[in-house]
Amino acid sequence: METRDRIKSMSVPAGGTIREAMKAIDRGALGTAFLVTDDGRFAGLVSDGDVRRALLGGHGLETPASEISRPEARKARVGMSAAEIAELFSERVRLVPVLDDTDRIVDVIVFDKRVHLQVAEPSMGEEELINVTECVLTNWVSSGGRFVTMLEERFADFCGCKYAVAVNTGTAALHLALLALGIGRGDEVIVPSLTFIATANAVAYCGATPVFVDSEPDSWNIDPVFVEAAITPRTKAIVPVHLYGHPANMDPIAEIASRHNLAVIEDAAEAHGALYKGRRVGGIGDLGVFSFYGNKIVTTGEGGMIVTNRKDVAEAMAILRNHGMRPERRYWHETLGYNYRLTNLQAAVGVAQMDKIEPILAAKRRIARTYTEYLKDLPGITLPPEMDWAHNVFWLYSILVDESVAGIGRDALMEALQSAGVETRPLFPPLHTQPIYATGQSLPVAERLAATGLSLPSAVGLTDEDASHVAESVRAAFSTQRV
Ligand SMILES: Cc1ncc(COP(=O)(O)O)c(C=O)c1O
Repeated sequence: METRDRIKSMSVPAGGTIREAMKAIDRGALGTAFLVTDDGRFAGLVSDGDVRRALLGGHGLETPASEISRPEARKARVGMSAAEIAELFSERVRLVPVLDDTDRIVDVIVFDKRVHLQVAEPSMGEEELINVTECVLTNWVSSGGRFVTMLEERFADFCGCKYAVAVNTGTAALHLALLALGIGRGDEVIVPSLTFIATANAVAYCGATPVFVDSEPDSWNIDPVFVEAAITPRTKAIVPVHLYGHPANMDPIAEIASRHNLAVIEDAAEAHGALYKGRRVGGIGDLGVFSFYGNKIVTTGEGGMIVTNRKDVAEAMAILRNHGMRPERRYWHETLGYNYRLTNLQAAVGVAQMDKIEPILAAKRRIARTYTEYLKDLPGITLPPEMDWAHNVFWLYSILVDESVAGIGRDALMEALQSAGVETRPLFPPLHTQPIYATGQSLPVAERLAATGLSLPSAVGLTDEDASHVAESVRAAFSTQRV
């Protein structure tokens, strides 16, 4: 955004309300709004922290923003030296307007945000606050209240499924999905080795054994060829994971499952909105599982969801998440259940997040396009997959580094990026190599991906300049090593 446009988007008339200030904070995306007089002079500054404190302190959205603004906030003046400007910043002051001698804002200086580029960051705003405020004001803070059902309906719709059951984590969602299918002691469940550990842990919670298989080199997801080879008379289900936002190759998996009479549970924790051959993931297998953890595409802080078209399974899961209590008889329990309920407070955030899932998904693809543009010609890099049958949502934009070409290994690159203020994450260490599951298997594709892969900052608020900084830092690290 041009400086002038940015200042305009952050500005509110001096007589504006807190609601208008929140909108300006959202528009400017710098956590701050400016109050400006009719003739364009600076009249005060309102930060997102000021708004939060005001609402918690009992102010309403229609309160004049001037009641909470800070006219005395630190300001830079045209002509100040760099040293004088640096003096204005502190742990708490991360942004200062620059005023000319008529008190008009001509620039904004922000503490260089690029030194703190995070891998993921939730995108919270006014809508979440309004929904949560409703829960607080009405006292519907536990699992009763309108938002849980609303979120379930919205999510079922989003996935094109008849039923959705909200729970308090993605891991609980996996656990309930497996339990509802009757998976238990002595059973085997096929999972990719290259995934987050929750996929396998949920199988173990049921007393069943996770059986690890290798990944496809091109999609990075579970390889159907190895799925078939791993089936035994004890196998009950397959859990393909749509890793980092890219769908698994579902048709061959569904075909194998149907030939061997196995259930398919999609672990779509990282892939809200991804498409396999035009179909939303989660609604393709018998059940689909999602996470709403803070780093996910939409979040409720902690939370999860299971979607399905099977009424019997949806009903069983709704009972299991509530201590196994029969819906028609209070405090009556025929099965061992759990407290996996999502709260109305969390669902309130989730409903607001679902209102903006399309813009969030669009932002993820925009970030991916920008990275791809900057990095595509760099020798020694493999960009994230997008198979011709797939629509990747690029939850975390992840790349592979070939040390023999790049002259720098994955771990050294991560260190170099860290010094440039760029946070990264390694791909998950394969589960068959983890102390808790160590099977002694050799799964070369998963091992190679995990040893060479890393995820780059993919937060929704990442700007093109941020992505350019990341890409330039990758380039710099590569060329430094080649010298
Ligand atoms: C592939 C995968 N499955 C399951 C989970 C578990 O979700 P949660 O953290 O909400 O329990 C996660 C993420 O955290 C994940 O990435």
